[in-house]
Amino acid sequence: MDAVNAAVARKPASVDLLVDLGTADMEGVNALISARMQSPVAVIPALADHLINAGGKRLRPLLTVASARLAGATNDACLKLAASVEFIHTATLLHDDVIDSSQLRRGKVAAHLIWGAPSSVLVGDYLFARAFELMVEAGSLRALDILAKAAGVISEGEVLQLTRAHDLNLSKDIYLEIIRAKTAELFAAAAEAGAVSAGASEEQQRAMRTYGMNLGLAFQLSDDALDYGGATEDLGKNAGDDFREGKATLPLLLAIAATGAQEAAFWERTIGRREQDESDFLRARELIRLTGAGEATLDLAAEFAEEAKAALGVMPTGDWRRALEELADFAVTRSA
Ligand code: IPE
Ligand code: IPE
Ligand code: MG
Ligand code: MG
Repeated sequence: MDAVNAAVARKPASVDLLVDLGTADMEGVNALISARMQSPVAVIPALADHLINAGGKRLRPLLTVASARLAGATNDACLKLAASVEFIHTATLLHDDVIDSSQLRRGKVAAHLIWGAPSSVLVGDYLFARAFELMVEAGSLRALDILAKAAGVISEGEVLQLTRAHDLNLSKDIYLEIIRAKTAELFAAAAEAGAVSAGASEEQQRAMRTYGMNLGLAFQLSDDALDYGGATEDLGKNAGDDFREGKATLPLLLAIAATGAQEAAFWERTIGRREQDESDFLRARELIRLTGAGEATLDLAAEFAEEAKAALGVMPTGDWRRALEELADFAVTRSA
């Protein structure tokens, strides 16, 4: 299928059904988040509130809740795990925006630009600690093990990415290894922990982990495509951040490969040495569009989304499963 047809075939998907089904549970999760981010040290709730109440899609906690309900959970053990998953995510965003020097997050000025990098990092640590308390309270050692391991893997992914920044020759395999660790692992753990809390069979736990992993890969691939093809207003973060940092993401790597010797000096200057002016991003964006590198990235995302949906085959049919199928499509076709 050529790029244009592939784009037409990818109809925008919505997460309306998932959000509807999850409304009551997410009220509980949000109440837990609000209660547990409090501290007598005033900077902590102020900074945490700035990010947490700026919104955010809450996809990962929704995934935990959906996975638990799909697996037949009738109690609320999954809510604490879901809140802890969002705390882990929020902590990584605080750290990530410092590392990436990002200025905008969830449509607001990044916290480190208001309170400074040290406070941002420390409040991230605080949220990690609160996440672990919630996991312990949820009462499943297995779920604690899954989420604790995920927190470690995310850090590995971020550090691995740091060591390979500006690498024009990064292989697709290492790129996939980075996004698996920094992003997909938390989606996998969120889904698996939900199933565990519901007392699902091992087969179903494995299926939900596979679903989450593939969903997370699709989600980060589309995120990397959106950094060149999306709009800052929709994203709530600045388009072009990856290029300005010289981050070797798949759309960039594919465009570098496709433009060959002709553009080698441009890529070496802008990514290798990070000598850029504003017009360079526009040129990179145009090269990514012309070479079909953005579409190819989304094609790969769509393949992972199909894998994700296939994994749901062993789960009960019904609304929750349909909502998770739609979430997989949304991960690819989203604009925000
Ligand atoms: C941002 O995740 C970090 C990535 C893995 C790309 P989201 O796009 O889920 O961020 P929020 O929570 O909705 O702000
Ligand atoms: C996403 O990192 C993964 C984590 C936050 C751990 P990115 O740097 O790729 O995502 P954005 O673009 O800042 O959301
Ligand atoms: Mg970032
Ligand atoms: Mg980053």
